Amino acid sequence: MLHWLAAARARLIPRGRPGAVLVDLGCGAGLLAPHVEGYHHIGVDFSQEALRQAREHGVHPVRGDVLAVPLPDECADVVVAGEILEHVHDLRGAVAEACRLLRPGGLLVLDTLADTALCRLVAIGIAERVAGLAPRGVHDPALFVDRGVLLEECARHGVRVALRGIRPSLTDLLAWSVRRGRPVRMVPTSTTAVLFQGAGRKNG
Ligand SMILES: C[S@@+](CC[C@H](N)C(=O)[O-])C[C@H]1O[C@@H](n2cnc3c(N)ncnc32)[C@H](O)[C@@H]1O
Repeated sequence: MLHWLAAARARLIPRGRPGAVLVDLGCGAGLLAPHVEGYHHIGVDFSQEALRQAREHGVHPVRGDVLAVPLPDECADVVVAGEILEHVHDLRGAVAEACRLLRPGGLLVLDTLADTALCRLVAIGIAERVAGLAPRGVHDPALFVDRGVLLEECARHGVRVALRGIRPSLTDLLAWSVRRGRPVRMVPTSTTAVLFQGAGRKNG
């Protein structure tokens, strides 16, 4: 499912101009890289193995914690936080770091899981335990993201973010369940109460 999410995330990121920098927080294996063009793509992760795989996708690895990123202020044209905020113990700290890295006018793009009972049912009860869309135990529901806090914290750091819910296309998911390996499109949905994306530009 991370592959499907990376493709959907990339659709929010315009092609980079020469010299443009994209900082990918919690880059994992660099799944975003094949979908974005025109950036010096820096991946931050604390997993050495993830960074090794990301490098194979052309990502420039930086080992570190997304709560204290070893990169200078305002170094990025685009900061991406894909499927990472629901893994950190300090949401406000992670948002502050993401916004610190972003240059004025730069774009913040994120996707994550909402702190709701519906999300716990769908992301853990169904996606992990029934459908096998994510490894069992990969999510700690206590870390799911409070959308109000997220928006408030982004705004406090000068980034007004708009959220929209997304879900897998049901027809694609059906086809995938018959024959794994086929890509599944993520499509907009009316609620941000489960899986959602966010995007916004920094003031200035
Ligand atoms: C669910 S994966 C998402 C990877 C990638 N963004 C994607 O969408 O394919 C979460 C990644 O965040 C990394 N991670 C989790 N907490 C982190 C932290 N505090 N600092 C740096 N990396 C972290 C993990 O090592 C893992 O690679």
